Amino acid sequence: VPDISLANVQAHLSSFQTIANNNGGNRAHGRPGYRASLDYVKAKLDAVGYTTSIQQFTNSGATGYNLIADWPGGDADNILMLGGHLDSVSAGPGINDNGTGSAGILEVALTVARENLKPQKHLRFGWWGAEELGLIGSTYYVNQLPAAEKSKIKSYLNFDMTGSPNPGYFVYSASGQPSGSLALQQTLEAGFTGKVATELTSVGGRSDHAAFARAGIPVGGLFTGAEVTKTAAQASKWGGQAGVAFDRCYHRACDTSSNIDNTALDRMTDVIAYSLWTLAGTGTPPG
Ligand code: PHE
Ligand code: CA
Ligand code: ZN
Ligand code: ZN
Ligand code: ZN
Repeated sequence: VPDISLANVQAHLSSFQTIANNNGGNRAHGRPGYRASLDYVKAKLDAVGYTTSIQQFTNSGATGYNLIADWPGGDADNILMLGGHLDSVSAGPGINDNGTGSAGILEVALTVARENLKPQKHLRFGWWGAEELGLIGSTYYVNQLPAAEKSKIKSYLNFDMTGSPNPGYFVYSASGQPSGSLALQQTLEAGFTGKVATELTSVGGRSDHAAFARAGIPVGGLFTGAEVTKTAAQASKWGGQAGVAFDRCYHRACDTSSNIDNTALDRMTDVIAYSLWTLAGTGTPPG
């Protein structure tokens, strides 16, 4: 499994920050900073051979967009999908929430291309719009898929907040939401072995995996924490500050490029790659 470059992930976050700065301070649904973020990600993927498509929807009187990227090859009937939301709240630039997950899956996708990975499974990535308005983009994506296409997606992994400044190392609990997959949970946990201890968290319906879960697709994911306070036990295990939120700037204007723990971001992004390389199958792809 390749080591994902933290510097490259940070460069994507810096681009998201610049996009927000140039577009009224946010990257929210219906605002120009959202579309600019989408165009940034799409151009990077197009340049290395992904098949990309922009999916348009309407919510709250504004046009929203999802970006879907397929890596050519692999078994079209056996799809491994990774995703995260690309929109911010309107209060700020949304660099931890969810520049981090968006930049992480982008850099993993670019690394797949750089390594010319030929996995057995077909790889698909999704950047969702309007998560902050109620999982709108991911729900639109899942609902418009014909049943036959839904059944080809065998696993969905979600990455929403992976660089919280007072980080926890949370893996979505298989029993903590509908359609939680123990196999996915255990693969994600294994990615941290020998690096840092993890905890399971019940994320319920709080992010885009819930749209996939409703369709019966097995789901999993990673999270470094939001508004909840770190306990003393967690601070002795992970460092950081007990009695302080995992992300004090959650949904605030101060969720900027300074609102990131780079060690957590590096570890989490490396585990995104670990899960992809482990789950995708590296043998000869079917003809
Ligand atoms: N989806 C939440 C948000 O974007 C963050 C979150 C992710 C909360 C995962 C819990 C679990 O605001
Ligand atoms: Ca790394
Ligand atoms: Zn949010
Ligand atoms: Zn989020
Ligand atoms: Zn590393």
